[in-house]
Amino acid sequence: MAQKYGLDTAKLPVHVGMIMDGNGRWAKKRNLPRIAGHREGAKTVRMAVKTSGELGIKVLTLYAFSTENWKRPKEEVNFLMNLLVEYLVKEIDELQQENVRICSIGNVTDLPKKALETLKNAEKKTVNNKGLQLNLALSYGGRDEIVRSFRNIAYKVKDGLISPEDIDHDLINEYLDTKNQPDPDLIIRTSGEMRLSNFLLWQGAYSELWFTDTLWPDFSKEEYLQALEDFTKRQRRFGKA
Ligand code: IPE
Ligand code: IPE
Ligand code: MG
Repeated sequence: MAQKYGLDTAKLPVHVGMIMDGNGRWAKKRNLPRIAGHREGAKTVRMAVKTSGELGIKVLTLYAFSTENWKRPKEEVNFLMNLLVEYLVKEIDELQQENVRICSIGNVTDLPKKALETLKNAEKKTVNNKGLQLNLALSYGGRDEIVRSFRNIAYKVKDGLISPEDIDHDLINEYLDTKNQPDPDLIIRTSGEMRLSNFLLWQGAYSELWFTDTLWPDFSKEEYLQALEDFTKRQRRFGKA
């Protein structure tokens, strides 16, 4: 049995999703502005990426900015967009060394020009990397993704390229942002909230969920390993007896 950090690597999830929540509360507890929590949270992102890569996890999807997060104060939105740029610029060499492939899901064309450019560059630079696939969910909402995919299918039907009978699970999968990717096996959410907040709604149909009260900036490697260990002990039945 291949082991790493005491975990049976054969039983690890192929795809992990993370709802990185609690940055604002982390800052509030310390009488700091919310943005200080986002900055601190970037350190946890590094840990999550590194640890996932080390363990041979194939896909890590990080929920970084939701379609609903645009409703936050402009200053906070700007800060988050700048933080994304800063993260990608600072980390790109190391990500490259670690063989990480960067991808994005969501309505990324809504991002400010600089953020979109930096993201597209990072995707292009790492496109041939065969290690961890790091999906950054940006301006992402599960419902929005489903709407966009159905609309694109409808155009094809209208043009006579697809018949309504062709629409099945596989076809819908092909039109989602996560096309050609496995569904998330495990979704982790920090900060004590027990909801999906519009994350991977279609893909998460049978995901195992793992919640912790820990705020995202405090989420440690030890706790991530704990979540993974719990996952290896779960029994997934997919509706079967
Ligand atoms: C998660 O932390 C980061 C994003 C949603 C971008 P929050 O900013 O939601 O932190 P809380 O939930 O207010 O503590
Ligand atoms: C979910 O967190 C979105 C991200 C982590 C990017 P939120 O803080 O936006 O979710 P709600 O508002 O508590 O549901
Ligand atoms: Mg939150």
